[in-house]
Amino acid sequence: MDEPAGIAVFAWKNESLEEYWACTEKALDFGNGLGPTQIVDDGGDATMLIHKGVEFEKAGAVPGPETTNNTEFKEVLKTLAWCLEQSPQRWTNVAKGCHGVSEETTTGVHRLVEMAKEGSLLFPAINVNDSCTKSKFDNLYGCRHSLIDGLNRATDVMMSGKVAVVCGYGDVGKGCVQSLAGQGCRVIVTEIDPICALQAAMEGYQVATIEDTLDFADIYITTTGNFNIITADHMAKMKDKAIVGNIGHFDNEIEMTELEGMTTKTNIKPQYDMYTFEDGHSVLVLAEGRLLNLGCATGHPSFVMSASFTNQTIAQIDLALNAESKPTLSGETYDGGNVYILPKILDEKVARLHLDQLGVKLTTLSKEQAEYINVPVDGPFKPEHYRY
Ligand SMILES: NC(=O)c1ccc[n+]([C@@H]2O[C@H](COP(=O)([O-])OP(=O)(O)OC[C@H]3O[C@@H](n4cnc5c(N)ncnc54)[C@H](O)[C@@H]3O)[C@@H](O)[C@H]2O)c1
Repeated sequence: MDEPAGIAVFAWKNESLEEYWACTEKALDFGNGLGPTQIVDDGGDATMLIHKGVEFEKAGAVPGPETTNNTEFKEVLKTLAWCLEQSPQRWTNVAKGCHGVSEETTTGVHRLVEMAKEGSLLFPAINVNDSCTKSKFDNLYGCRHSLIDGLNRATDVMMSGKVAVVCGYGDVGKGCVQSLAGQGCRVIVTEIDPICALQAAMEGYQVATIEDTLDFADIYITTTGNFNIITADHMAKMKDKAIVGNIGHFDNEIEMTELEGMTTKTNIKPQYDMYTFEDGHSVLVLAEGRLLNLGCATGHPSFVMSASFTNQTIAQIDLALNAESKPTLSGETYDGGNVYILPKILDEKVARLHLDQLGVKLTTLSKEQAEYINVPVDGPFKPEHYRY
């Protein structure tokens, strides 16, 4: 943005869940009953609010907050009950006017794929996360940078020589493991997927269960996109002053509500708290279990985000072209109800656009070489199923 002044921001640091959902609702209110015609989502909350809004408008009622144990979903229900009272067809109309969403992250894509499978996705979705130039760069190198940044700013603890446990060895986990190992930590990985577990082992890391590590590990990082990875029970058994943080999308990777129920909380500094158990030992938790690289540091640097956002921009241009029934950059026609990935030629273009900045000099295929390996001279150079 050349002149960011005037761009509305519906967020502030330390907002409560109630404030977060009120902000999300306001960000989707363009006045006169209108909403966004296209969405750039990160984690799928905007998309979820619209879809739940439509669902409850159809039903004519929003379930009461007492119908769920999920603290966050209680706030979603309260927000939507208020919306239904104000304007009973608001979300139905917003969904009708929405040409599509492009989704940034793994967790948001899981939600979209679920909706597409059950036939409830109301507009086309482009999965930006699974462009190679997103997940194999932002999730990996971005987290490799910002995990350690968050840990250093919050804890000021010497990492060298410590035992760090990284839960999950997907793209984010791989980046986190590299940065902790780079600091001289002895890294242990936990995994459920035999392929990722084997990868970790063959990179030279011990793979164990979290239970195996509780009495000696110093640092725990969750990267799974799953929930209840570190339970309050685990933390009760951890070594005194073990550091616990999450870099996956949602705060439910760590059982925070249960931890709060079992301990006394002492704030050390903003976004860093000590939780003391009755037996006197404590754990140190970053950013209250939320994304520690955003809570305790400033997230990923702009270079790696540029690759992610170039994909987002292409996806948004395509959704706009598609809405006007014009030829899209990908050549795809995007139907409501489906989730799409940008084709490899555009993925390669995103990478190509970032080469000069790093002084990269690419080799050009000769016509004969291109024919020999059966690819076009200008790409795409790999089949869609290629794994980098
Ligand atoms: N903080 C950030 O800046 C940032 C950036 C990108 C992605 N994310 C988020 O990070 C999370 C992970 O993303 P990813 O792209 O690495 O996903 P991924 O699917 O590549 O990796 C997650 C890994 O966790 C493993 N896993 C699942 N349940 C587990 C369990 N119970 N114990 C141990 N391992 C388990 C999976 O097998 C998988 O290998 C997502 O929530 C994503 O949205 C955060």
